[in-house]
Amino acid sequence: MTASEPGTNTVSSLYDRLTDALTAAFGDNIHFGYWDDDRDRRSIEQATDRLTDLVAERLAPGVGGRLLDVGCGSGRPAVRIAREHEVHVTGISISKHQIQLAGARPEVGESAGQVAFRAADATRLPFPEASFDGAYAIESLVHMADKAAALGHVGRVLRPGARFVVADFFLDGPQTPGEGAEVIAATCELLRFAPLATLEAYRGLLDQAGMKLVEVTDIRANIRRSYTVTSAAFHRALRALLGELGPEHAAAARLFEQFGALPQVGYGLFTAVRL
Ligand SMILES: C[S@@+](CC[C@H](N)C(=O)[O-])C[C@H]1O[C@@H](n2cnc3c(N)ncnc32)[C@H](O)[C@@H]1O
Repeated sequence: MTASEPGTNTVSSLYDRLTDALTAAFGDNIHFGYWDDDRDRRSIEQATDRLTDLVAERLAPGVGGRLLDVGCGSGRPAVRIAREHEVHVTGISISKHQIQLAGARPEVGESAGQVAFRAADATRLPFPEASFDGAYAIESLVHMADKAAALGHVGRVLRPGARFVVADFFLDGPQTPGEGAEVIAATCELLRFAPLATLEAYRGLLDQAGMKLVEVTDIRANIRRSYTVTSAAFHRALRALLGELGPEHAAAARLFEQFGALPQVGYGLFTAVRL
């Protein structure tokens, strides 16, 4: 079964079921927050918007540009970037529920016409060549087993010179067998992550897709608080779905915190340029 086919174990069904719990936990976004340091008192909503802003800064889009949001979640990042940078953003997601939520936002269909959402699979983007001036993917590539296909499509739909910015997990160093490897495998299984890619793997895949990786910022220290927020959100979501929770559910909810504490789990902001 691929990620795009219907079923109970797919990425799409995960997000159809968990989006409401996740947006409640993350202040309407479905991604991690960014804090400067331990003294930074930003709320989770402010911190997740901050991560969106860091992605947009790296895109540095010109007014009126056309951007693609690969795996757009609830649509909040697209609306924020469209408003702050006066650009047009098209968001795609494999979750139909997310596309309904995003499509119901008041900003959709306004005369400004700044955001649009449609259900689509990133590994088969339904857009013509060179039709976007920039693209970004916030925590969506991590779910895609066929990253070569997704990046190939992103490269195809970007015009030469356009930027592609990614915020995502990466595997930092070789994955040796042991407890860490087990935690990573269990987390990937639980959250429908594909095997984590190293920075070198990303560099090679971007190369193949006609893009050059020009900058990487490791922000794992800045996003770390998000793991605790996520674990609490999973706990609440599991309670809502299942009622009383057994110890195995509590362990599943804690798993992500263990994952985030591993030295081989990195989180970065990557900027690539379409050649
Ligand atoms: C962690 S959420 C991030 C959502 C959004 N980028 C944000 O920052 O709020 C992951 C997103 O990736 C999307 N996704 C995962 N695999 C996908 C695929 N093959 N094609 C399109 N979207 C995909 C999910 O539907 C979801 O919207």
